[in-house]
Amino acid sequence: MALCLGIETSCDDTGLALVSEGHLVDSLLASQADAHAVFGGVVPELASREHERCLGPMFDTLLQRNGLEPAELDVIAVARGPGLLGSLLTGIAFAKGLALTLQKPLIGVNHLHAHLLAAGLEQELPYPALGLVISGGHTEIYRIEGPASFVRLGRCLDDAAGEAFDKAGKCAGLDYPAGKRIDELARSGNPDAIPMTVPYLHNENLDFSFSGLKTEAIRKAWELGLDKGENRKKLPDFCAALNCAVAAAIEKKVERALARQKSINTLYVAGGVAANSRIRDQLDKLMRRLGGRLIAPSIPLCMDNGAMIAYAGQLLAQAGFSHSLELEAIPRGRKIPDDMMRK
Ligand code: KG4
Ligand code: ZN
Repeated sequence: MALCLGIETSCDDTGLALVSEGHLVDSLLASQADAHAVFGGVVPELASREHERCLGPMFDTLLQRNGLEPAELDVIAVARGPGLLGSLLTGIAFAKGLALTLQKPLIGVNHLHAHLLAAGLEQELPYPALGLVISGGHTEIYRIEGPASFVRLGRCLDDAAGEAFDKAGKCAGLDYPAGKRIDELARSGNPDAIPMTVPYLHNENLDFSFSGLKTEAIRKAWELGLDKGENRKKLPDFCAALNCAVAAAIEKKVERALARQKSINTLYVAGGVAANSRIRDQLDKLMRRLGGRLIAPSIPLCMDNGAMIAYAGQLLAQAGFSHSLELEAIPRGRKIPDDMMRK
């Protein structure tokens, strides 16, 4: 049995998992959300230190509770970007140390591709498909031909959907990360009571821009005094309007992408914001209307986790790919190089 260890440290969650033959064996996740909530967002230096502190003990626990020795690992997979440079480096250094001492293949996994493949742990993934990653740092559309073949069709020009939720939520008095709470509050709100503009539709591309909506929502939060704890009754309407505007922008661009990819009738949605009930619902309805299908991972698999890295790493290893010990960490904003070695 080929056993793949997956290591995820690209942002503020330390994730470790074991995948064998496409099935999850076990996983561990240490969230740093509480440590960063005090600051209202991720503090990169703090994130790196926490990964550094957690990785060793988590690795020992994962192996011990599965009765495994390190030498029984067959592949070491690690998120190599995009993400926070310091955070990525902690995971990559750990992975390289293991690969070197155990003399096992190392695979650097694209964190966004791993998000999109994560649903494969729960159901079969048909190809080709359209992939939508919506997270705290990214909003991107891909054409996916297979586990190692992704063509990016659209990206975010500034702030990602999750960033708009988190920062607007912070200014409305919600704790970081605010996306989940906004989703919950929005269910009892009226999106038309405090209307917000659906952003970046007057163009022909498949890109996204959420900075304007973020600013609009922050202004409205201030006008309503939500930052000072006033007008709490208006919070559900505020959340519903923001959620509605984000969902509409996403749906519109996905529909446009599908219209241009006639051979595709499957959409994978992934990333933390893919946990959003309104977005999931709207995309599901869109795919049904078009005679296609939405594939969305269960909520825990939407978030950053080690299982998706182990799973993607195993698929790449099976396809004969690996990296040398020169594997580089790639921070957000830098193109991930096509530097995998093929057997
Ligand atoms: O993928 P992820 O765990 O980390 C990144 O790679 O960014 O995504 C985190 C993002 C945060 O912005 C968080 O607020 C958002 O996902 N999020 C949600 C929901 N659950 C998490 N946004 C909207 N609705 C949710 N239910
Ligand atoms: Zn992520």
